[in-house]
Amino acid sequence: MSFLYQKVFRPLLFKMEPETAHEFGVRALELVAQSRLLRNIVGTLSRKKSKEGSIEAFGLDFPNRVGQAAGLDKDGRFPAASSAIGFGHIEVGTVTPKAQPGNPKPRLFRFAKEEALVNRMGFNNQGASELTKRISSTFPKGLRSVPLGINIGKGKATPVEDAFEDYAACFRTVMKQADYITVNISSPNTPDLRKLHQTNYLEPLLKSLRDLRRSLSQERKSPPCLLKISPDETFSQIEELVGRAMDYEFDGIIACNTSVNPPLSMQRQCLPEGGISGKPIDFKSTEVIRFINQITQGRISIIGSGGVYDAESAQRKLDAGACLLQLYTSFIFRGPFWPSKLARALPLAKGW
Ligand code: FNR
Repeated sequence: MSFLYQKVFRPLLFKMEPETAHEFGVRALELVAQSRLLRNIVGTLSRKKSKEGSIEAFGLDFPNRVGQAAGLDKDGRFPAASSAIGFGHIEVGTVTPKAQPGNPKPRLFRFAKEEALVNRMGFNNQGASELTKRISSTFPKGLRSVPLGINIGKGKATPVEDAFEDYAACFRTVMKQADYITVNISSPNTPDLRKLHQTNYLEPLLKSLRDLRRSLSQERKSPPCLLKISPDETFSQIEELVGRAMDYEFDGIIACNTSVNPPLSMQRQCLPEGGISGKPIDFKSTEVIRFINQITQGRISIIGSGGVYDAESAQRKLDAGACLLQLYTSFIFRGPFWPSKLARALPLAKGW
């Protein structure tokens, strides 16, 4: 089936402007999400791994290691389709407290030879309430076969000093439907967002979220909370921020978001402004995972994101210390049967 995508559908989609192709794909996945028959057909074609075991991470059970990265389904339009095609977890968002249009187009660029994308979307989304409403009717918590994470961010106009208010507002809105929540401080396309990696901005944010989570009652217990970080920080900055995340009771780290530093292989090209994803960031992201695993000695769960493009690159991230993986760019290049194919190639048990 991957062959059919590569030879027939991908050439057609890649003739379209990247964001138009994305919307086309989203509509197709929405159709699958809405029809039980289509979901069953797609599930059969994907040859999803039959339930032979699961991976436990931050208190949740995952049927396989391969998840959908944030940004692919910002508004939670097709999680039932993502589950049918075999993703072992699904992260929707990033959502902000209010709807916002994102940056002007064009804002998504393909680099086919490098199997890379550059994007400067800027958190275009319909807002946290709209997402939560949609998820509660189409993919409600408690009735899902895979965990759903909701990724939250700050609005474009919110000054970084007040960012914690946006995160807290999103947290309260989405928590009823989220199996876990990701606090995204690392997208490069929202003004000043990455300043939240600096301790003077990070500390108040982490503290306010810790206090909010502690204040929740037993019935409205907080879902696990992860921090998604940039690959463009120094190791000493990463050490500092992972330490703070652990001090403030975060359950995991997603390493990493897109990079604004082109690797050598892309430096000779005139690249558009934005974050690079896909194969060229594989090495960098894996090194960050390895570093976090070394300094934490496995005391915090790591989800590996950034440049997983085949079974070997996925395995390298698991060997470096990730327990789960997320894909975005290789999904665009390899198609809808890729997540289940990759999941089948990766071991479920520890001690691989
Ligand atoms: C992203 N990514 C992203 N991440 C996030 O936390 N919130 C978001 O809204 C988005 N949006 C987004 C849009 C587009 C077009 C791309 C390509 C990426 C980052 C994504 O989740 C992932 O971390 C990186 O792309 C690295 O993984 P891949 O693409 O190399 O598998």
